[in-house]
Amino acid sequence: MSLVPDRYAVIGNPIAHSKSPDIHTRFAAQTGQHLVYERLLAPLDGFVPAVRDFIGSGGKGANVTVPFKLEAYALATALTPRAEAAGAVNTLKFDGDAIVGDNTDGIGMVTDIVRNAGIAIKDKKVLLLGAGGAARGVILPVLDEQPSELVIANRTVSKAADLASQFARYGRISASSFEDLQSRFDIIINATSASLSDDLPPVSPAVFGDTTFAYDMMYGKEPTVFMRFASSHGAAVRDGLGMLVEQAAEAFFVWREVRPETAPVYAELRARL
Ligand code: ATR
Repeated sequence: MSLVPDRYAVIGNPIAHSKSPDIHTRFAAQTGQHLVYERLLAPLDGFVPAVRDFIGSGGKGANVTVPFKLEAYALATALTPRAEAAGAVNTLKFDGDAIVGDNTDGIGMVTDIVRNAGIAIKDKKVLLLGAGGAARGVILPVLDEQPSELVIANRTVSKAADLASQFARYGRISASSFEDLQSRFDIIINATSASLSDDLPPVSPAVFGDTTFAYDMMYGKEPTVFMRFASSHGAAVRDGLGMLVEQAAEAFFVWREVRPETAPVYAELRARL
């Protein structure tokens, strides 16, 4: 074994609060992988040089976060089908001259819902709130689970309609305004950025019931305003901390071909929120 550990990093701006170094360092210790994982602050106009420098100094792979996921998509010399579908890249793998772009966010969320929360998506009526980058990234992995239908609701309905038509060949998918949503759903995923500003997407209480599972991609020490609203109307709720850990585990697998155990890492992160 080489004495020099392989180098990985998370690249973003800002980056100081990223939990990825913590997560990957734990994964590496747990699986005995010889690597270091650091935070890399790239200037807002300097993502590509930052990646090239990192490759030049021996970087083997990187996670990419806000605001660089589209630039990472453009930089990649090859894209996995799930990165292509997401239209964004959160995981880069450097392999000789190749820069492979992948996206593990969607599969991370689906794994958290199906395996960790124990909620099957198959044959369920699923509602996705939002039509930005976060929403787009999960559509293909959700459709792969074969829900009975997937409805995308967005404030700007045309963006939901665009997504529905782009993904129509992968399953039963449609677009809606928030006002037109008046029936109950089995699974409701909040992929809007509303929780960031403590806002609630304008969704009717009629979409929730006591068999509804409501998922917010955001997470925090306290339940988000969406989770509180959903649970006050009978839904079971979960935040996106598990998605964060699962997307990291999938990236770790992409790089190292080893699957770390996520449950202990999730528990530690939860305890420290
Ligand atoms: P992200 O990468 O987090 O998805 P984005 O691409 O800017 O960020 O998309 C933000 C999403 O949250 C959009 O769907 C946006 O709705 P619009 O397309 O109509 O702008 C949605 N959003 C943000 N704030 C919201 C709010 N207060 N209520 C409802 N939807 C909101």
